[in-house]
Amino acid sequence: MLSKISTKINLKTQTFNKIPVCEPLFLGRETDYVLDAVRSGWVSSKGPYLKKFEDQFSAFCGRPYGIATTSGTAALHLVLKALGIGKDDEVIVPDFTMVALLFAVLYCGAKPVFVDADPVTWNMDVSKIASKINPKTKAILAAHIYGHPCDMDPLLNLAKRHGLKVIEDAAEAHGALYKGKRVGGMGDISCFSFYGNKIITTGEGGMVVTGDAALAERCRYYGNLCFPMDATRQYRHEEVGYNYRMTNIQAALGLAQLENIDTLIQKKRDNAALYRQQLEKIEGLQLPPESKDAQSVFWMYGLVIDPKKIKPTRDRLCEFLAERGVETRPFFMPMHRQKMVAKEYANLEKDYPVSNLLSEFGFYLPSGAGLTSENIETVCEAIHAAIIS
Ligand SMILES: Cc1ncc(COP(=O)(O)O)c(C=O)c1O
Repeated sequence: MLSKISTKINLKTQTFNKIPVCEPLFLGRETDYVLDAVRSGWVSSKGPYLKKFEDQFSAFCGRPYGIATTSGTAALHLVLKALGIGKDDEVIVPDFTMVALLFAVLYCGAKPVFVDADPVTWNMDVSKIASKINPKTKAILAAHIYGHPCDMDPLLNLAKRHGLKVIEDAAEAHGALYKGKRVGGMGDISCFSFYGNKIITTGEGGMVVTGDAALAERCRYYGNLCFPMDATRQYRHEEVGYNYRMTNIQAALGLAQLENIDTLIQKKRDNAALYRQQLEKIEGLQLPPESKDAQSVFWMYGLVIDPKKIKPTRDRLCEFLAERGVETRPFFMPMHRQKMVAKEYANLEKDYPVSNLLSEFGFYLPSGAGLTSENIETVCEAIHAAIIS
């Protein structure tokens, strides 16, 4: 997935450097901490880096409890388990998102209920949630898509009125702000991913953060194979648990990344500003938003083309960019079209016009924090060439 910037591509007589869609950037003590963890012998899921990483990352989100996990998907599953969500329950989920949200709901035997996307922010359209709530609804799972915070205030008010839990999926948005508050610190409980392309990485990994001590304890319990929390190990288990524990080596990497998170976010924001300067004049190209209440971290720099105004199709445009060494990725496929639920949603196609449109006409550009201004210029020149040719 993460190719190297130095890869050369030959197009006829010209040679291009390949610009990857996203690579991790290690600016600080990553190798020191990882080597220290290995040398100390604390290589599994105990060790000093874990506690530091959990404490410091949860504090960064403004929450007292952090439970590090093997992935963002595991964090989502743990949260739903800890909230007691199961068969016959419904969970409200964005239709335009990454498949881990859908899977986590299905792991629990519950029913995902999808909500269409907002055409401007690409997040779940909060004004369309109320009509999906019924007595079976237990929680709203809100994702902050591509680094832009979801409109949390109306969502939190709605959830409060209906007695629903709010889970933030901030896998793509570490450090993003909504009305001055960091994402992950607004719902009842939140999940993060530290996959290699995320704002900070532990290789693979994730974290649950919350202000609720009892929920935090239940997450730790389920993620640690349901070993009793208050007794010596007797290998007696009352419930089915999961091994979702992060290792001390991963936490060492995460802690070093966290020490530079403000710089990494600033680089993403600077890259977004450079892209905007060079692309905003192209008619028919929708650029990533930043609403007045929000500070995005521009995890991925997405574009949506208007097919009435732009000649090449989205896929042809991406091919053209690939031929010039510019990696791209199409936007998510809507959840209601995923094979495991598509039959149930077959009659509801008309409920998801925005998410269908984003999926058909959206894609994202190289977005790593390590991009140079020359890289961004190359990408933008290729886009201009593709659109006017
Ligand atoms: C919004 C969202 N949630 C959850 C995940 C799952 O995280 P992981 O890949 O660490 O399991 C991702 C991963 O990209 C994501 O984008």
